[in-house]
Amino acid sequence: MRDNFKERSTKLSILQKNKLYFIETWGCQMNEEDSEKLSGMLISMGYSSCDNRNDADIIIFNTCCVRENAELKVHGNLGQLKGLKKQKKDLIIAVCGCMMQQKGIPEEISKKYPFVDIIFGTHNLHKFPEYLNRVLMNDERILEIESGSDEIIEGMTIDRKSSLKAFVTIMYGCDNFCTYCVVPQVRGREKSRKSEDIINEIKNLAKEGYKEITLLGQNVNSYGKGLEEDINFPKLLRKVNEVEGIERIRYMTSHPKDFSDELIDTMKDCNKICNQLHLPVQSGSNRVLKAMNRHYTKEEYIEKINKIKSLIPDLAITTDIIVGFPGETEEDFEETLDLVKKVRYDSAFMFLYSNRKYTRADMMPNQIPDDIKHERFNRLVETVNSICAEINQEYENKIVEVLVEGVSKTDDTKLTGRTNNGKLVNFKGNKNSVGKIVKVKITKPKSFSLEGEEI
Ligand code: 5AD
Ligand code: SF4
Repeated sequence: MRDNFKERSTKLSILQKNKLYFIETWGCQMNEEDSEKLSGMLISMGYSSCDNRNDADIIIFNTCCVRENAELKVHGNLGQLKGLKKQKKDLIIAVCGCMMQQKGIPEEISKKYPFVDIIFGTHNLHKFPEYLNRVLMNDERILEIESGSDEIIEGMTIDRKSSLKAFVTIMYGCDNFCTYCVVPQVRGREKSRKSEDIINEIKNLAKEGYKEITLLGQNVNSYGKGLEEDINFPKLLRKVNEVEGIERIRYMTSHPKDFSDELIDTMKDCNKICNQLHLPVQSGSNRVLKAMNRHYTKEEYIEKINKIKSLIPDLAITTDIIVGFPGETEEDFEETLDLVKKVRYDSAFMFLYSNRKYTRADMMPNQIPDDIKHERFNRLVETVNSICAEINQEYENKIVEVLVEGVSKTDDTKLTGRTNNGKLVNFKGNKNSVGKIVKVKITKPKSFSLEGEEI
């Protein structure tokens, strides 16, 4: 089912001139994109963004609940807003995002922080202008959460942070039920956007001058399931590859169990698909992988990696790893270290296992004590980082192609951008190169970035 969002939202909006908004976003790129949508809605209502929450007329917290840490940050930040609301009676505070889709949490937030005006979830993000109008006109307090439906709202205005690189969500939700993960609970079941809608969005982005697209989904490999058209993820990639003006295509996240030969062939055939693969492994122990419900073994994972490495030159591989899953023994953990050494990741997101309510892992015996988790985590970080530094070292004197994003944040005499395989490069170059792909000679590889000179 589709819905004409633009028509509905403009009918509902009261124009707010000279008013400022501030959005704080926690979590993944999906949340970032949702915040860009909220931004788009606020701008079409006449608001402008500001960088300091103390200046704002409306503050939105877009929350994440994948790990406990993210939730604690939300509570800490909400506590700080109490004083601000006392000083500024007209300040509107809204809280949304994944955390609000969890059982009991919206009610808890509403009770604990009575100064919060609007609480809504991920499935009713598009109704935000309506909620805001109800607060402005009737001084209502709103708590509205919806559970997932088959509906995909198309046509929402997105105020993107970059004018060069854009995220495009191709599917929502996840059907995988990894035993540690709350995402299927809070984002709902998988549903894919029609390829026509995705391609039209990308064509429009190309017209606006965007050069790089990252296709987003919790498990992009199962894109297309449930759609009437004859499509899957590799076929979609081939269509995106044809869009004139787009020069680089990235995607995340892939699930190793669904990572197919057809996808490897597509990456090989399509010149715009970057030589970068984010393939979360989570653990190197087959026992733990089974308990996580991941549906692959360490050996199968390594086999897929070796295959793709042999077919795609300069491929950078990144991953997610969880340390301290319930029942993880020292031997299990050493299997993870062994896998890391075999795969040689270009970088990895490493997480301490975090207990999440209503997940299967939460109920498992043998939860790992914090001190052991931390000790293993530190060893993993050391191993991963030393491999990353070694890999980067191999770039010395190499010439790489960089899409120039702008002036470096840390040194304004330098430009910054990324290589085709995703490495961050800070380099001396011509400021007119911003927005273009240029050749850069690497003069000084560092552990997490490369330095060089435009040639
Ligand atoms: N504890 C720690 N890390 C988690 N992730 C998901 N759920 C948890 C959890 N309960 C990590 C996984 C996933 C990434 C997005 O977050 O590694 O790939
Ligand atoms: Fe969570 Fe697993 Fe789905 Fe990723 S694939 S979102 S880790 S359930």
